[in-house]
Amino acid sequence: MTYQYSFKDCLQRAERINWRVEDLIGGDKTLDFSMPFMPESLARTAELPFLSPDEKRTLNQIRGHAYLAIFGLVEEFILPFVVKHACPYLTGEEYRARAYLEFAAEEAKHIHLFRRFRQAFAEGFATPCDVLGPSEDIAANVLSRPTLSVALLTLHIEWMTQRHYLESVKDDAEIDPQFKSLLLHHWMEEQQHAQLDSMMVRSIAADMSGEQIQAGIEGYLALGAFLDEGLKYQVLYDLVALERACGRRLSFEESEAFTAAQHQANRWTYIGSGMSHPQFLETVGELSPTMRRAIESAAPNFS
Ligand SMILES: [Fe+2]
Ligand SMILES: [Fe+2]
Repeated sequence: MTYQYSFKDCLQRAERINWRVEDLIGGDKTLDFSMPFMPESLARTAELPFLSPDEKRTLNQIRGHAYLAIFGLVEEFILPFVVKHACPYLTGEEYRARAYLEFAAEEAKHIHLFRRFRQAFAEGFATPCDVLGPSEDIAANVLSRPTLSVALLTLHIEWMTQRHYLESVKDDAEIDPQFKSLLLHHWMEEQQHAQLDSMMVRSIAADMSGEQIQAGIEGYLALGAFLDEGLKYQVLYDLVALERACGRRLSFEESEAFTAAQHQANRWTYIGSGMSHPQFLETVGELSPTMRRAIESAAPNFS
């Protein structure tokens, strides 16, 4: 089988990047709570005119906390999934095996990084913020789905990360430099992951029938619906966290407007920006042009 990227090249690029968790967070590397953390195109707090500028910044930080916590959570299923995928190549395909093991080691490091971030956030943010979980249950649910479905969701997440950094974070001078540095260093390693995932999807689908591929892509869409359901709860957690932090309750009408606008903002952040990514669609289109069109026509609901 031919692959569009080289395992050796992915490994060598990954080996040139060697930051440590301790270099990025903790000690004198503190978050600046006087600044927003997330780019506005993902946080979308401007759509909530009943929040004061301080409350919008607080919501932005709550969204930033959830963002890295959710990344940590999804990486808890990506890590064992990638390790399992590497196993058949441990003897005989050195670059391939090592590229996937490096990928897995980086996800373990990212999980560690995001846990440390949550500790730093809790130390600086006066009130608690809840996040979806428990992560073990979510990972068990995702990993019980068809292999191709999980590989496609992973590919979606990796390209989504690329898009967030390049289109929204990289040139944003308004956000906290410390938080931005976490996203930069995460993005550097995720570039290789997106390419390795594209090759993983190809190799998983290589021996499948058309029906199996169709079922795998439908399973990916079912995982998207599972994620969307979870995001509804995350928006409610964020509303409670905002009210707690600001010391006031929103009116019924404000709460309704908050949940509608923030659910859509979360949908774009975690679903739409991945499922409409050109490289993700290209990989799906290689498997099934019909399913690519189905995904493209569903994407505007998550924009
Ligand atoms: Fe990661
Ligand atoms: Fe990754």
